[in-house]
Amino acid sequence: MDDKESLYEEKLREFEERIARGEKIEPGDWMPEEYRQQLIRMISQHAHSEIVGMLPEGAWITRAPNLRRKMILLAKVQDEAGHGQYLYHAAETLGATREEMIDALLTGQAKYSNVFNYPTLTWADNAVIGWLVDGAAIKNQTMLAQASYGPYSRAMVRICAEEGFHMKQGKEMVIKYSQGTPAQKAMVQDAINRWWWPTLMMFGLPDKTSTNSPTLLKWGVKTRSNDELRQEFVNELVPELHALGLSLPDPDLHYDEASGNWVYGQINWDEFWQVVRGNGPCNTERLAARRQAHEDGRWVREAVSAYAEKQKAGNGQG
Ligand code: 3HC
Repeated sequence: MDDKESLYEEKLREFEERIARGEKIEPGDWMPEEYRQQLIRMISQHAHSEIVGMLPEGAWITRAPNLRRKMILLAKVQDEAGHGQYLYHAAETLGATREEMIDALLTGQAKYSNVFNYPTLTWADNAVIGWLVDGAAIKNQTMLAQASYGPYSRAMVRICAEEGFHMKQGKEMVIKYSQGTPAQKAMVQDAINRWWWPTLMMFGLPDKTSTNSPTLLKWGVKTRSNDELRQEFVNELVPELHALGLSLPDPDLHYDEASGNWVYGQINWDEFWQVVRGNGPCNTERLAARRQAHEDGRWVREAVSAYAEKQKAGNGQG
């Protein structure tokens, strides 16, 4: 081993010891390049998911059934924009630029959560997104609040607090509609039937095929595996939905006494890849909406940078 290699090995050992002691890695600290790249990948995809995640529900703001529901939905969608901001900032601390990340999203190169490429067909979709989709997001993000990278873990603490409100408002609606008129019950059941499988896909690939998990687990970005979190989510949700008289669109779903798990059927990973690669029901629409929003914001970016330039020139003269 030459000097350069042994220096790297020593730095890596110190880095891994810090993680083992539960210390946070902060911007500017030494970190392996692979750790930095994995974090940029995951945090930027997460940021894009928050921003694109505003669209399916945002479409219902003008059609909310009453003022209370409209105010809740407005607050929720606005929260998602804030989550995107915290996350883009967290990725910027690792050297990624906002322009690169946004460009990757708008040109269709970047991934974002599969689940936001499905349409919201009825008002009950907002209820089910709140309970199931935000519930799945919280399960994953509560783990990520323990992540070894300081800025990401701190962003997660705040995001989880807000997601808790998102999930509760969705659950409240599902409970209400499940006990409502036959039309309301049918509407909420139909929404569950459409969102159940895409929600289970949100947890990522099965452990045996998840290419990123080993690195993320080794360096404490994740502390629990995709399958573990998915199973815990299913175990929590199934009895609660059954108790409301609602069913799940999975003929193979059954309780296994030995493991204490609700065993679910085969997830359609072909559908998952179709959606993630841009061929889901709403991918084109979602990216078109983001591109339009980016274009509409151009004058603001230009005004801000012109002002900054002017200030700089002014300071130079002074
Ligand atoms: N949707 C889209 N792509 C996905 C995916 C999903 N549900 N699950 C996995 N993938 C992609 C991965 O990004 C990876 O692609 P890449 O290597 O080209 O980057 C590939 O499929 C292989 O998957 P892995 O299982 O190896 O990936 P990970 O180990 O990174 O696990 C993950 C995927 C669980 C999504 C993980 O990245 C993660 O925990 N991310 C942070 C949380 C997050 O992004 N959540 C998204 C939802 S946010 C949300 O719902 C907010 C709402 O309130 C608006």
